Amino acid sequence: MSADTQDPAASPPAEAVVLVGGQGMRLRPLTLSAPKPMLPTAGVPFLSHLLSRIRAAGIEHVVLGTSYKAEVFAAHFGDGSDLGLRLEYVVEPEPLDTAGAIRNVSDRLSADDVLVFNGDILSGVDLTKLLETHRSAAADVTLHLVKVDEPRWFGCVPTAADGRVTAFLEKTDNPPVDQINAGCYVFRREVIDTIPAGRPVSVERETFPGLLASGARVQGYIDTSYWLDMGTPAAFIRGSADLVLGAAPTNALPGERGEALVLDGASVAADAEVCGGSAIGRGSVVKSGARVVESVLFDGVRVEGNAVVERCVIGANATIGAGAVLRDAIIGDGASVGADCELLNGVRVWPGVELPERGVRFSAD
Ligand code: GTP
Repeated sequence: MSADTQDPAASPPAEAVVLVGGQGMRLRPLTLSAPKPMLPTAGVPFLSHLLSRIRAAGIEHVVLGTSYKAEVFAAHFGDGSDLGLRLEYVVEPEPLDTAGAIRNVSDRLSADDVLVFNGDILSGVDLTKLLETHRSAAADVTLHLVKVDEPRWFGCVPTAADGRVTAFLEKTDNPPVDQINAGCYVFRREVIDTIPAGRPVSVERETFPGLLASGARVQGYIDTSYWLDMGTPAAFIRGSADLVLGAAPTNALPGERGEALVLDGASVAADAEVCGGSAIGRGSVVKSGARVVESVLFDGVRVEGNAVVERCVIGANATIGAGAVLRDAIIGDGASVGADCELLNGVRVWPGVELPERGVRFSAD
């Protein structure tokens, strides 16, 4: 049994809730056509990687809390049996925010312990140890906490010597600790029922501070394994590349780890270079002399000869013209970038837009 596998004899099985209802505004225009957890990441929807890790931890029943573009999840994953899971979908009529979404699925849950995941986190946290920590502390809620290099960018979560959370602090220039909420929790089942129903509630702003104030046992589990919030374009690109390269954990990679993942039906010219953990989607074509570095090409993309694509996401069926140079750019589905265009530093091209001019240069800085 792997370290990440639950021993059913030792403890009753937990259940999981995955929050996938956000609009993914920071990843627009990619999220105009698909919600963030469904974006192709290292060859499969991002959510496939998370579900593969949940399954490997011995959890079978997973409830998805959906809102934005709710229908696409069931259309892709069905009842989950292909993944060895029993998947259920709950749709919010209006977005209920994170805690509201957890409360909204409570009637589908029956286990004593419920693992809750933000659906956009790529993480190697040991779920079995997280559950063990929760159970041995007899906690009401246990949070996965992660240490980061720049805690100033986040609210931080200090803990006492016994791991008990002592505060939830807002962003500050001088944070007292470098550990932050990693977006993965264990809830005692009854605690979920104390969340107000039918209105938006945030776990970070309302539920967790409220639990602390009421004297509940809120435990921290600090884990130093791989962790990335895939919410921004740069993080999305980094995460996909790390999955392809093998730096980030998954059981759902549709191929071998390495410099590039070239999916079925894609073709890369013999003298093109595809590297840095790039993923080349089904039916995509990378022509002679082109370079694709640390990038994600969705399905049906054409990269013409001698084009350079570095740290970019190229949406489905988009075309990059010959000799074009794209660095840190996001290209929407079906867009077309003319020959010799230069798109740099965070430029985003909306779906279907055509940039036909030769030699046009756009930079977002
Ligand atoms: P941005 O708009 O770019 O901030 O992304 P987001 O919409 O995903 O928001 P955020 O990253 O803060 O969300 C964290 C997690 O909670 C993500 O997995 C979201 O899908 C999920 N989430 C956020 N709001 C809701 C909601 O109202 N309902 C549900 N079901 N999930 C939500």
